[in-house]
Amino acid sequence: MTHPKDDPNTTTDAGIRVQSDEHSLTIGPDGPIVLHDHYLLEQMANFNRERIPERQPHAKGSGGFGTFETTQDVSRYTKAKIFQLGAKCDVAMRFSTVAGERGSPDTWRDPRGFSVKMYTEDGNFDMVGNNTPIFFVRDPLKFQHFIRSQKRRADNNMRDHDMQWDFWTLSPESAHQVTYLMGDRGIPKTWREMNGYSSHTYSLVNAEGEKFWVKFHFHTDQGDGNAYLSQEEADNLAGADGDFHRRDLFNAIQEGNHPSWTLKWQIMPYEDAKTYHLNPFDLTKVWPHADYPLIEVGKLTLNRNPTDFHTQIEQLAFEPNNMVPGVGLSPDKMLLARGFSYADAHRARLGVNYKQIPVNKPQSPVHSYSKDGAGRTELASDPVYAPNSYGGPSAQPEPGPEAGLWHTDGDMVRQAYTLRQDDDDWSQAGNLVRNVMDDAARDRLVSNIAGHLCDGVSEKVLQRAFEYWRNVDRETGDKVEAMVREKLDGASDAPGLASAESIRARHAAE
Ligand code: HEM
Repeated sequence: MTHPKDDPNTTTDAGIRVQSDEHSLTIGPDGPIVLHDHYLLEQMANFNRERIPERQPHAKGSGGFGTFETTQDVSRYTKAKIFQLGAKCDVAMRFSTVAGERGSPDTWRDPRGFSVKMYTEDGNFDMVGNNTPIFFVRDPLKFQHFIRSQKRRADNNMRDHDMQWDFWTLSPESAHQVTYLMGDRGIPKTWREMNGYSSHTYSLVNAEGEKFWVKFHFHTDQGDGNAYLSQEEADNLAGADGDFHRRDLFNAIQEGNHPSWTLKWQIMPYEDAKTYHLNPFDLTKVWPHADYPLIEVGKLTLNRNPTDFHTQIEQLAFEPNNMVPGVGLSPDKMLLARGFSYADAHRARLGVNYKQIPVNKPQSPVHSYSKDGAGRTELASDPVYAPNSYGGPSAQPEPGPEAGLWHTDGDMVRQAYTLRQDDDDWSQAGNLVRNVMDDAARDRLVSNIAGHLCDGVSEKVLQRAFEYWRNVDRETGDKVEAMVREKLDGASDAPGLASAESIRARHAAE
C-alpha cells in the first residue's frame, strides 16, 4: 500500500474510496452498526491477521540492505560469478538473538545471528551464520533439544538456567561455544561492531574443476570485532531500551554512517581434509589461522534501511541450501540438515510461495516448474511439466565436477564422527581462555559464568558445571567454583542476572 500525494483519499484494499476514517456506519447516530460496513469489517479482519508466527529460534532481530563487491581475484578457488574480481550484487542482512522472542531485549546474553542474502546473477546465495566461528553441537539431532533447553520450561513458561547448564554440561562438545557465549562475544556492543562467520565448512570449485574447502569470515570494519557490553550495562539496557541494537543499526544507516564488513576466506586444499589432525567438518572446531590463514575476498556494505519492517525483515527468509554454482555443501552433518530445516520453516511460517515475497525473490530469472499454492503471485505458464516438447525450460548439466561433491562410502550407521588425532571437546575452548583472552577478559568470563550459575542452578548441575570449566581450564574452573560458593553463601552480590535473586531476597525480607 502506498500513499500517493496526488490522491490522498483513503480506500479499501480493493481501491474503493471510503467515506470516513472515524465513524462506523450505523442506523442513526445512536443506532447499531450494520454488517455491510465492509470497510469496518476489513479493518477488523485484517488487524486480527496482522501477526505471523515468529521464527522458532532467532525471533528477535533486524537488518538492512546494501551491496557486496568482490575486491580481490579469488578465481583460482571458485567459478562463482559473484566471487569474480569486480562482481557486485545487492544484499539483504539480518542480525538476531537466538533464544528470545520477537519482543525480547536485544542485550540478553546469546550468540548473535549474522545472515546475508546475496542476490546474484546466478540466483540467491545465503550465508546464515553467527557472530562466533563455531557452534554448541555437532549433530543435527541435538539441535532441537539444545534450543528447547535455552527457551522456556513447560510448566511455568520461564527460561531456566538449570536446564541450560544441564544440557551444556551433559554435552561437552558445547564447551567451545559456551566459552564464547560467557565471554565478551555473548553481549556485543552493537551489531555493526561484530564479526560474522559461516562457522561451517563449505566447498568451492573453480573453472578447472579443482575443489577446495572454505570457511567464511566477515570482519567488521568498525573496530576489531571484540566490542562488548558488560553484564551490568546489558542488564540496564534490557530495561531502558530493549531495542538497543536495532536502534543503533537503524540510526547509523539513516545518518549515512554505513557499516561495512570485509569478507575473508580460510581455504583448505581438498586433499588436506583427509589427513588434517582435526575433523575439518566438525562445527565445534575452528581451523587455526596458522594452518589456514585468512585471505581477503570482498566488501559488504549496508546503506539502506527497511521502510516496512514486516514485509522486508519479518518475511525475509534465509536458507543455507541457497548456494550458487561454484559454492557447495560439505560433509558437516549440521550444514546438511540445515539444508532441509530452513525451507521447511519458511513454508510453515510464510507459506509455500515465500520465494515470491519481493525481499526473497531472486534478481535473476526463475524458470521453475512450481505452480499454484497459497499466496502465489507469479503467473505459471504452459507447459507445466518436464520433459516436454513445447519449449519449456530444461536442465543443463554443468560440465566438470559439481561443487559440493565429495567421495563417501560405508554402511548406514548412527555414529559420531570418527575421531582424529587432536579431536577433543576441551582443547580449543581452553586455548581461547588461555591464549586469546587477556586477564581482564578472563575475569569477566569467570564473573559472567558465576553470575549465570547463581540463578537457580541445582547443586547436581552446579557440580557438573565446575567440572566442565575445570576441563576447559583448571584455573577458570576453580575460580568459578569459589565465586559461586561465595555468592551463594551470601558473602557478595552477584552481577547481572543474579542481582534479580538479591531483589527477590530483599522483597522477601520486607
Ligand atoms: C534461524 C534451524 C543451526 C544460524 C533458524 C530457524 C530454524 C533454524 C528453523 C528459523 C528460520 C526462520 O523461521 O526463518 C537450525 C537447525 C540447525 C541450525 C536445524 C542445526 C541442525 C544453526 C547454526 C547457525 C544458525 C549452526 C550459525 C552458524 C541461524 C540464524 C538464523 C537461524 C542466523 C536466523 C536467520 C534470520 O535472520 O532470519 N535456524 N539452525 N543456525 N539460524 Fe539456525
